[in-house]
Amino acid sequence: MAATASPTFAVTNRLPATALTTLREAGELRVDERTEAIPRADLLELVAGADAILTLLHDRVDEELLEAAGPQLRCVANVAVGYDNVDVAAATRRDVVVTNTPGVLDDATADLTMALVLAATRRVVEGDRLVRAGRPWTWGMSFMLGSGLRGKLLGIVGLGGIGRRVAERARAFGMEIAYHSRHPASAELVAALEAERLPLDQLLARADVVSLHCPLTPQTHHLIGSAELDSMKETAVLVNAARGPVVDERALAAALAAGEIAAAGLDVYEREPRVEPALLELENVVLSPHLGSATVETRTAMAELATRNAISVLRGEGPLTPVTSQ
Ligand code: DGY
Repeated sequence: MAATASPTFAVTNRLPATALTTLREAGELRVDERTEAIPRADLLELVAGADAILTLLHDRVDEELLEAAGPQLRCVANVAVGYDNVDVAAATRRDVVVTNTPGVLDDATADLTMALVLAATRRVVEGDRLVRAGRPWTWGMSFMLGSGLRGKLLGIVGLGGIGRRVAERARAFGMEIAYHSRHPASAELVAALEAERLPLDQLLARADVVSLHCPLTPQTHHLIGSAELDSMKETAVLVNAARGPVVDERALAAALAAGEIAAAGLDVYEREPRVEPALLELENVVLSPHLGSATVETRTAMAELATRNAISVLRGEGPLTPVTSQ
């Protein structure tokens, strides 16, 4: 594809300065400076006439948006590894390349996942609430006991970049690893992690901690619902730092309230940023506001990779990290 002369970049949110500087040097830049999600009407206006759009995970890229952008549009660079907000098939029909930001957020998201595992198994946030509320407490042999990780089985659903980083960290905590994935991991990775590949039902039945790292697709929507929660151990912990709709949030709240599983750690929500009200009433769930990739270094790397993708496509050099329809 030929290079686009004097390209226009539309950026739907304030990105780290280095990325904006690079875009400004490469063409005309339109940025919505808000830090919260851009309203739909403003989004449609912002993208009109753009050659490339840099989007965030809450910007819905569908037929309407592609139409509003116009026929000159050549690239949608999503500043996220997940791209369930993008209708990739619709973009492809219009010869619009879609890119994401794999790899650069694996460590940050794996760190946050382990934070949720530890917070949920060791009741850190529940303890914080107790101390802050000024409730009486004293060190006691059976006071606020949690469960340890050494020798326990971590079941990873989706052994991609983030899943494997979580597994590496969990190994350092003495955990055993099982995984469920569409494709078997490489022999090298299996050997390094001593990981066992299991069907989902067996993984759920055996794991002490289940951590979700699969993309959101029609196949993974509500992958974990009441039947799956029921099949888990009563002592098990569920962690979701992938996408909210992978878990049926109402079923999860019911399972936690009934003691069908011990605890959960969630970074993502089905109707983000809203959270199922029943979850807010429970002590045995740790809730963080989609912070998986939220470090200065990682957000900068994500924005820079999205920028390089957009510029590379408009120069006719092709995308660095393209995505295809799921
Ligand atoms: C992603 O990149 O998909 C993450 O959810 C962002 O934190």
